[in-house]
Amino acid sequence: MSTPTAHARVATPDLEVRALAKRFAAHPAVDDLSFTVARGSFFSILGPSGCGKTTLLRMIAGFIQPDRGDIAIGGRSMAGVAPNRRPVNMVFQQLALFPMMSVAQNVAFGLARRGVGRAERMRRAAAMLERVGLGGAGGKRTDELSGGQRQRVAIARSMILEPTLLLLDEPLGALDLKLREHMKIELKQLQAAFATTFVYITHDQSEALVLSDHIGVMNHGRFEQLGTPQELYFSPATAFVAGFVGANNRLAGKALAVNGALVELATSGGWVLRARRQGAITAGTPVEAFVRPEATLLARTSADLPPGQTAHAGEVISLLFDGANSAVLLRELQSHVEFRIALPQTGAYADLKAGARVCFSFDPERAICFAAADAHA
Ligand SMILES: Nc1ncnc2c1ncn2[C@@H]1O[C@H](COP(=O)(O)OP(=O)(O)OP(=O)(O)O)[C@@H](O)[C@H]1O
Ligand SMILES: [Mg+2]
Repeated sequence: MSTPTAHARVATPDLEVRALAKRFAAHPAVDDLSFTVARGSFFSILGPSGCGKTTLLRMIAGFIQPDRGDIAIGGRSMAGVAPNRRPVNMVFQQLALFPMMSVAQNVAFGLARRGVGRAERMRRAAAMLERVGLGGAGGKRTDELSGGQRQRVAIARSMILEPTLLLLDEPLGALDLKLREHMKIELKQLQAAFATTFVYITHDQSEALVLSDHIGVMNHGRFEQLGTPQELYFSPATAFVAGFVGANNRLAGKALAVNGALVELATSGGWVLRARRQGAITAGTPVEAFVRPEATLLARTSADLPPGQTAHAGEVISLLFDGANSAVLLRELQSHVEFRIALPQTGAYADLKAGARVCFSFDPERAICFAAADAHA
């Protein structure tokens, strides 16, 4: 039977950040940030270079002192707790494995520092290597491993200390694209197998979408939005999130009319379109609309488009062939605004040539419109 304490423990988030702030001279690197990360979940911090991701992670790890705010891990405040006394471990972009040690010695390193005897730490290192799929590699040197295998050694080395939180700072950044794609899936499986809470930093939105239970989209030291990958993709709260998460056509213009949840807008070149309103918008004010390439339908004539949707016309600039991610880049006829449309997998438009006239339409409910001020916040 569970006790009240056990209940409280289940409800306690593994990480609680409250009003955290850090300035470097006049520059607010982390600006009054608050969020919680549930036990056993995969949480990503996604943002462009310089937005404060590493600073935030280093404060959680205890390497940097916050100016203000508090961090609690497993329900315990970390104020005044030294980095080596925190129940966290960190995996960096540069893995910093010890080249003069064997793979097993690398994995056992933290246990040695904790005074665990040699036989016991080698037994535990071998078990951990087994769990990350490197059983039998313990006697190798680290330079005998591939990049992906070294990545797994770095994770094994961190996980052997059984941290409450594993902090990962762009751990796939140094790998080539193919290996990154592979390690993405492997990381997700490892996290599920260990049931350890991961806090993961990346500037790669696809990595964050694939891996995470929740994502904090960070910009200028703050979270613009915190949500599930689906929430960020389908309902971005700000223009920054709409532009940063997933592909999007960005159309700047002026609101002509606001009808409840829909905005009719015109670009400076006179292209009129409609999109779902996000936040307060008044007619006559500057707006920014976003239409996803994959939410847009392409057709050779307007008769082939779904009835009831406004047909737009365009001229093909180029066909961007990229396998399943192929797209066509076109110029809207009226305004000459560039617009990208994802191509269907059928290959139906593989013959499109530059200069060809096409039609396209989208459901205004699936496009989104913000007051333009949001973009410069
Ligand atoms: N020790 C420091 N002294 C002064 N300024 C710093 C220091 N560390 C970071 N900064 C500044 O704080 C801001 C945030 O840096 P941070 O390293 O946290 O960014 P980041 O989001 O991790 O970027 P990247 O994706 O490039 O790693 C940057 O403008 C950076 O120049
Ligand atoms: Mg960084």
